[in-house]
Amino acid sequence: MTHASVIAPVLCVVGARPNYMKMAPVLRAFDEHVPPVPWVLVHTGQHYDHAMNERLFSGLRLPTPQYNLEVGSGTHAVQTAEIMKRFEPLVDDIKPSCVLVVGDVNSTLACALVAVKKHVAVVHVEAGLRSGDRAMPEEINRILTDRISDRLYTTERSALDNLVAEGVDASWVSFAGNVMIDSLLSSKPLAVPPARTLGEHGIDATLIADGRYAVVTLHRPSNVDDPEQLRRLTAMLADAAKRLPLLFPIHPRTRANIERFGFGALLENPKIALLPPLGYLEMLGLMSNATVMITDSGGIQEETTALSVPCLTLRENTERPITAEQGTNTVVGSDQALFVRCLDDILATGGKRGCVPEYWDGAAAPRIVADLYDWLQSRLPADA
Ligand code: UD1
Repeated sequence: MTHASVIAPVLCVVGARPNYMKMAPVLRAFDEHVPPVPWVLVHTGQHYDHAMNERLFSGLRLPTPQYNLEVGSGTHAVQTAEIMKRFEPLVDDIKPSCVLVVGDVNSTLACALVAVKKHVAVVHVEAGLRSGDRAMPEEINRILTDRISDRLYTTERSALDNLVAEGVDASWVSFAGNVMIDSLLSSKPLAVPPARTLGEHGIDATLIADGRYAVVTLHRPSNVDDPEQLRRLTAMLADAAKRLPLLFPIHPRTRANIERFGFGALLENPKIALLPPLGYLEMLGLMSNATVMITDSGGIQEETTALSVPCLTLRENTERPITAEQGTNTVVGSDQALFVRCLDDILATGGKRGCVPEYWDGAAAPRIVADLYDWLQSRLPADA
């Protein structure tokens, strides 16, 4: 008995900035697989600003999506519902072999939910990460997406325990490594030097002339939507700026709230350079050369571990524990005293050295594609 040899396209979904660096290496691995695996890329339009979108696509060499659902912003319910409504007819038209989603944004869950209800297999890349914090929208997206996925690829071994504890069959899970690190390693030689990035955004590069600086990113709703929390964090940043210059590419949500709550003056400081959201290669250049990253991003905790750059995470928890256990990450929450102590330690000693976790080696996407190809083959109807 043989299997029919033609696999229908894998319908791949991106929606928001952190999806792009995860999807780019997967699509390249589909093309490089022998035989190539057909794919179709759809962008839901969750992120639409030029800075959040096209510049990232070009920096990552991510192909232009064949479809853009242009959903834009909205409440979680509106955004999720709108993605579902617009994604469903596409699944009907394309009749994919499976829907492949990455990460934990609203687009991830919305498209997984459409697929499972239509009996189309769901494949989740970056499965099993858990912060234990259900107030985080991403945590809900992770739990639900994993629960309805048919094939799950993990970035660290602890993710399998999380999945099994929630009732996922261990045989559906494969430890493949971290696709975001595939992007990082392949793009590192192309990273834009920090002085050039500053120049392009009208900032005098003498700010970082002594080679020491921190890069800051903040956008979690729990940090930037609550005025008291945002005030606390901006005050912590002003304190950090007494020790070293800060480069702060601001997410649109954060910029809007800083203006709305009237905290702009706290950041009016010659040692703090405010930048728009940056392209991937610009951000990579800033991160690779940074003395320390100060962030609430999930992805940056991983990227700094891979780059051996110290990272202070302004959150109470992390869904990526390996970055703190093995890597360069320290979860400091909004504890100002701890933050300052860690910062001083980094400035005095270089901070945590860390090591690069297993399978964060630049070859996660080919491992996923090899496994997925075999799995899709095994699901093809057998020839008589
Ligand atoms: C989303 C993801 C988050 C991810 C982040 C990366 C969810 C639940 N959250 O959060 O996990 O870390 O992307 O950036 O999916 N906006 C713009 N232009 C844009 C996009 C957004 O101005 O291109 C503004 C809008 O005012 C919007 C707000 O930012 O309401 C939030 O955008 P949204 O996509 O809802 O969530 P993020 O905070 O970006």
